[in-house]
Amino acid sequence: MSIQAYDLTGRAALVTGAASGIGRATALLLAQAGATVHCADLDEKGLRETTERIEAQGGSSTAHPLDVTDRAQVAATIGEVVRTGGRLDVMATIAGIMHSSPVLETADADLDRVLAVNFKGVLHGCQEAARAMIATNTPGSIVTMASGAVDTGTPGLLCYSVAKAAVVQLTRTLASEVGRHGIRVNAVAPGWIRTPMTDRHDAQAQHRVEAAMARASPLGRVGEAEDIAHAVLHLASDASSFTTGQILRPNGGVAMPW
Ligand code: NAI
Repeated sequence: MSIQAYDLTGRAALVTGAASGIGRATALLLAQAGATVHCADLDEKGLRETTERIEAQGGSSTAHPLDVTDRAQVAATIGEVVRTGGRLDVMATIAGIMHSSPVLETADADLDRVLAVNFKGVLHGCQEAARAMIATNTPGSIVTMASGAVDTGTPGLLCYSVAKAAVVQLTRTLASEVGRHGIRVNAVAPGWIRTPMTDRHDAQAQHRVEAAMARASPLGRVGEAEDIAHAVLHLASDASSFTTGQILRPNGGVAMPW
């Protein structure tokens, strides 16, 4: 094993949520590592900006506007990636939404919406990617995006943390089923990361929450999208070739579960 294990030259990666935040940082980093990055998101303008930035850094990418809650759109995109490039090596299911409401004020519709995007959207990506990897005999890597919310009880985060806990169980179950095809499946569970999702749109409120999060970390800072992109690169690459069914927690040490 050498540093070449991080080289993704000749590989094809599909990143959902690639128009913003962690998904964009991941798309840019996987492209720097040599992969052709297929960027998927609801947000067409953001997607364009990501693919332009990849091209500007000398990388190769395509843009796929899609809604991860629609299985047919996810299947069609993966079908197109495999038809045009012959393979899918890396699937990073990063698209997600935030929702906050106390348990006693949570409506069924809130739970349905969050589960549709944050769990079923991930399930669609995992199933379609694993099928494509098996059909093309590709020993790929699937990386899901969970959250530090799975390690604790947080006021207001019922829908979000339930969906992310389901992602963890999907990750473990799928890993146990597809390992015999050489396919690895792992989750990243980030702590508080500075992205549009955590933007309070108010400088003072932002400073307060970031200061509190930084105090909770032994490293004394909040996370950046690039911190998570590096965790995804590790799991996507051959550097983690003996790792499957695991949760990697880039959280600044805020939580240290077994
Ligand atoms: P973000 O809001 O910057 O990016 C989320 C992206 O997902 C957006 O581009 C959005 O258009 C896309 N998206 C939302 N619904 C979609 C759908 N139905 N179909 C396709 N694309 C859709 O958020 P961020 O922070 O980059 O989050 C990325 C992932 O990381 C999410 O799954 C989030 O839950 C997770 N995460 C984020 C943390 C943070 O502190 N920012 C902490 C832990 C996990």
